[in-house]
Amino acid sequence: MAEDAILGYLATHEEIPDSGQFASQHGLQHNDVVNVIKSLHGFRYIDAQDIKRESWVLTDEGKKYAAEGSPEVQLFLAIPPEGSISKDELQKKLDPSVFKIGCSQAGKNKWVDMGKQVSRKVQHVEDKVKDLLIRIQDGQVIGKDDINSLKARKLIVAQTWKGYSVRKGPNYAPRRKKVATDLTRENLQRGDWKELEFKEYNFNAKGPPAEAGHLHPLLKVKQQLKNIFLQMGFEEMPTNNFVESSFWNFDALFQPQQHPARDSHDTFFMEAPSTTRELPEDYVQLVKRVHESGGYGSRGYMYDWKREEANKNLLRTHTTAVSTRMLYALAKQPFAPKRYFSIDRVFRNESVDRTHLAEFHQIEGLVCDRGLTLGDLIGVLNDFFSRLGMSKLRFKPAYNPYTEPSMEIFSYHEGLKKWVEIGNSGMFRPEMLLPMGFPEDVRVIAWGLSLERPTMILYGVDNIRDLFGHKVDLSLIKRNPICRLGIN
Ligand code: PHE
Repeated sequence: MAEDAILGYLATHEEIPDSGQFASQHGLQHNDVVNVIKSLHGFRYIDAQDIKRESWVLTDEGKKYAAEGSPEVQLFLAIPPEGSISKDELQKKLDPSVFKIGCSQAGKNKWVDMGKQVSRKVQHVEDKVKDLLIRIQDGQVIGKDDINSLKARKLIVAQTWKGYSVRKGPNYAPRRKKVATDLTRENLQRGDWKELEFKEYNFNAKGPPAEAGHLHPLLKVKQQLKNIFLQMGFEEMPTNNFVESSFWNFDALFQPQQHPARDSHDTFFMEAPSTTRELPEDYVQLVKRVHESGGYGSRGYMYDWKREEANKNLLRTHTTAVSTRMLYALAKQPFAPKRYFSIDRVFRNESVDRTHLAEFHQIEGLVCDRGLTLGDLIGVLNDFFSRLGMSKLRFKPAYNPYTEPSMEIFSYHEGLKKWVEIGNSGMFRPEMLLPMGFPEDVRVIAWGLSLERPTMILYGVDNIRDLFGHKVDLSLIKRNPICRLGIN
């Protein structure tokens, strides 16, 4: 309707000067007219220019007075024409706010004598406020002083009105042409394609979202980390066993059997199968001996090492269990230097909070070669972390049962403006490496970190439960951006 009215009007008129007036003259909603103008303008049937006007609209209080009269007049009319009325009685006859405002305005206008008794001072009053409000409601223009006084009494507020002036556009026609959007088989058979007018391509239109699989942020960061390790010449270790024996998870790492991490408060032990089926017996004997009485220059822990403890199955608590198995296999062959990495899941019996889950992912790297030093470890850590975009590192002496020396790794976070702990590292102890059968001058430097921590920093997630687990919002996975490590 609005479209016919606009195009029809322009057939005989130069211009629609004001869409608001046009709408009311044609009995149309201004909103509908505006929508049609936008659409016709898009197809260049018309040219449209913005018009903005400050207009005034009544507040709720203003609307009330426009209907019922101003408080001052209501008050005036409640006073008897002759004689007087007590203030208390007058108050009872009126609304409390009408009484209060009425008293003050009628007093200002010198219409009434206010005392204990109230009486009229003039015979007749006019409700100018009500008249002005009605005129504003009708869209009439009123004087500046009147506007200011109504505004001061909060009976009107300014509103910007937006509309258009409209003229014919380059594609003007009195009716919108139907344009073809598709060339069909029928068009070709009938031959009417020659006459058809086709809709122009809109190269700015957004296409429908491509439906495809989506990678979780952890997987994206994991892939980037894998690429970094591969660029540095590291090989990936097989991490496909979540269930591990205590032997490979702890004992082979020279972690004593009474260590608190081996308690069920920290580690998930398996109920079934509760124990491992086989361990390399010769090697088990060597591990038992180094725990009990040392060797290789060590005094050991000097306790009774129990096979039953080593047999217990658990969910691996760190991927260092994987590294240990790999090193054991490596030591069986003629020595060759190696660089290994792994990124996979580990499990700890932790109470869950904003930064801890009972399962998370560990990233681990190790270098095995003759004569490596702590300097090599610091060097490889600087190389690795600067590829992640963290080039400012600091190290703090730490303790692990299986490394000596051990260092916690801190990085300066430019966003958080502080040093944050990003990982743990060290040189595997001779008590771990020599029973495996490595030559004496072979050293292994290694480090580990969680995958969740850098991912949370990269994606600005501050609660780990929003990243991993059953509370994760699926749209996080659909909409998360590409991951590029090392470009900040
Ligand atoms: N396994 C350690 C941890 O779970 C990380 C680590 C790996 C430390 C290798 C030193 C060497 O925190």
